[in-house]
Amino acid sequence: METALTRLVGVRHPLVQTGMGWVSGPRLVSASADAGALGILASATMTLDRLRDAVREVKSRTDQPFGVNLRADAQDAGDRVRILIDEGVRVASFALAPSPELIAELKAAGVVVIPSVGARRHAEKVAAWGADAVIVQGGEGGGHTGEVATTVLLPQVVDAVRIPVVAAGGFHDGRGLVAALAYGAAGVAMGTRFLLTSDSTVPDAVKARYLAATVRDVAVTRAVDGLPHRMLRTELVEALEHAGRTRALLQAVRRAAGFRELSGLTWRQLVRDGLAMKHGKDLTWSQVLLAANTPMLLRAAMVDGRTDLGVMAAGQVAGVIDDLPSCAELVERIMKEAEEVRERLSASP
Ligand SMILES: Cc1cc2nc3c(=O)[nH]c(=O)nc-3n(C[C@H](O)[C@H](O)[C@H](O)COP(=O)(O)O)c2cc1C
Repeated sequence: METALTRLVGVRHPLVQTGMGWVSGPRLVSASADAGALGILASATMTLDRLRDAVREVKSRTDQPFGVNLRADAQDAGDRVRILIDEGVRVASFALAPSPELIAELKAAGVVVIPSVGARRHAEKVAAWGADAVIVQGGEGGGHTGEVATTVLLPQVVDAVRIPVVAAGGFHDGRGLVAALAYGAAGVAMGTRFLLTSDSTVPDAVKARYLAATVRDVAVTRAVDGLPHRMLRTELVEALEHAGRTRALLQAVRRAAGFRELSGLTWRQLVRDGLAMKHGKDLTWSQVLLAANTPMLLRAAMVDGRTDLGVMAAGQVAGVIDDLPSCAELVERIMKEAEEVRERLSASP
């Protein structure tokens, strides 16, 4: 199926596997790319050396185009961009709006720039700055998310910008793809659905928690890092939501100490990163520490399999997913269903 997205990045299907911290590693990305989707490597949780190695590993596993997700507000965003350019990565994806300078540098080197946005004004801004396309995530999507549902946000953004718009938040099947195309999108981007594949390296115990979840078990909370974050509602989330300020701060310091050891960051850097995530919001000190510490909480689940200690970011769609296909099976199934739906629609009176 050819769309503005497939033409822009050179993939076979208008499907994107999004960058998810600790989840979208070389194995998942290369499996998605081989299946004909745009796989995006998550780099915010990688050191610079690990990023370069991971990019090379994807290149050794597939000759298909792929992307890398970056945090535009990272101190070393410029160094990361240069790795992408040196290594000939096809697409740069951003969790927050990249600066016009970063966009210009990437485009001059022939890298396609696709920021993720959660509001119309952000889409307008990055389009004006030269982004090649946008991924627009509705509130039902996993991870940090907004309030407006995909069904309202997507047509709003499609009407506002002239660049290709990729729909995210709540997609998992061929019906959803056709619905997104009907709204004017050039494809769909999926996080949770690709996390729940046999190619994803997330430990089985964690996948089992996602599979068992109903739509009511997926909630948005600010208790972890002060920002609206969609995740599985676990004992940890309940505890953080009900902890008083002092207990929350103690817990945050304990977790931050663990993250500091793992990441090699100084306390000063940790607090600076936490403050950078504030976005001008009124955060408590425990939230500032937890904000800097969020990658550690995600890692505890996604790498170490600690369903008791970790944060399991998830879209609402986790509540309707109950299997673990390979990426190839998933992509084939979605595209087959999309074709059937299109035929049925055009055949109906
Ligand atoms: C476990 C998990 C980790 C995520 N980490 C990131 C990230 O590091 N950077 C980012 O831009 N988006 C991140 N997201 C958001 C996804 O890239 C994607 O936009 C979202 O999952 C789409 O909604 P869906 O889950 O309904 O498909 C994450 C989502 C999940 C579920």
